[in-house]
Amino acid sequence: MMFFLLMSLVIVAIPYAIERYGLRVRFGLFALLFWLFAFQFVLIFTIDALLQNFADSMPGWLESMLTTIGGFAFVTIGITPIITLVLAAAYLLFALGQWLFDKDEKDRPTRQTPFTIAIDGPAASGKGTLARRIADAYGYHHLDTGLTYRAVAKALMDQNMPLDDEFLAEKAARNVDLSKLDRAVLSAHDIGEGASKVAVMPAVRRALVAAQQGFATRPPGAVLDGRDIGTVVCPDAPVKLYITASPEARAKRRFDEIQANGGGAKYEEILEDLMRRDARDMGRTDSPLKPASDAHLLDTTEMDIETAFLNAKTLIDQALARNTRSNSKQ
Ligand code: C5P
Repeated sequence: MMFFLLMSLVIVAIPYAIERYGLRVRFGLFALLFWLFAFQFVLIFTIDALLQNFADSMPGWLESMLTTIGGFAFVTIGITPIITLVLAAAYLLFALGQWLFDKDEKDRPTRQTPFTIAIDGPAASGKGTLARRIADAYGYHHLDTGLTYRAVAKALMDQNMPLDDEFLAEKAARNVDLSKLDRAVLSAHDIGEGASKVAVMPAVRRALVAAQQGFATRPPGAVLDGRDIGTVVCPDAPVKLYITASPEARAKRRFDEIQANGGGAKYEEILEDLMRRDARDMGRTDSPLKPASDAHLLDTTEMDIETAFLNAKTLIDQALARNTRSNSKQ
């Protein structure tokens, strides 16, 4: 029994220790060796028990066959741990060689990260228009992440489902298709209200953030706008902008937009609505709306979109130049 325990230790503990300390070992191979060893062990004991108890009553040919098999297993059982030790030593040597010779190679980042621009801000701050303008100018992909929350709300509303059921909302979030976000349909006022309700649910955020992070890696670059892009979705983005404007200026913009589209709305109601939405977005516990610590603030209360774009462009060009310099050094 001691022998069995000792050998098991060799076969299981050594590969485990190697794997544990970061050297990639084919653990399955060692598991196979272990099972082979265990099988041989059981075989020897079974044959030994059979021979001791039933040797007199069994035919001679069976007795000699069992003796041969038992003998063979007895010899090879010692080989299994030796194979394990040899393999483990080979793995260690190989890993040591890799560590010594590829050290410089490993320290160097090999994959050039796609360029991501993170834009956050409250409703009607102008972040969406700015994000589209930047994406057009630089030939980058653009995602208005607000549409993803709106799509979840719409999916629930279409099926008359409650907006406060996290299980159903998460399911809807997992089904959101980023290539099928229809701005014209999703920009309806009640969908926006619903979006800010489903957006407080951590499970919904987790599902949508994962999809948004996938989008952010699209080459050559991506511009994402929303409420938590610089803080949660793309915390490593080389450019982060936080766009603000006074609630009154934002409400006026919404009001003019609705009127231009032939709709009717009261300015006071829009203002009230925006402030309620701001409070919900800034006050939630999961990913509240706030500027990332390294975000550049742009107040568009008195600023037109072109001026905002030129401000953003200066920051983006500087970050791109830094990126090119650090890539060419590698
Ligand atoms: O930007 P938009 O008004 O379309 O967003 C709708 C709602 O989706 C917001 O009020 C906010 O609650 C939520 N949202 C969010 N995180 C984002 C984008 C939007 O919580 N990144």
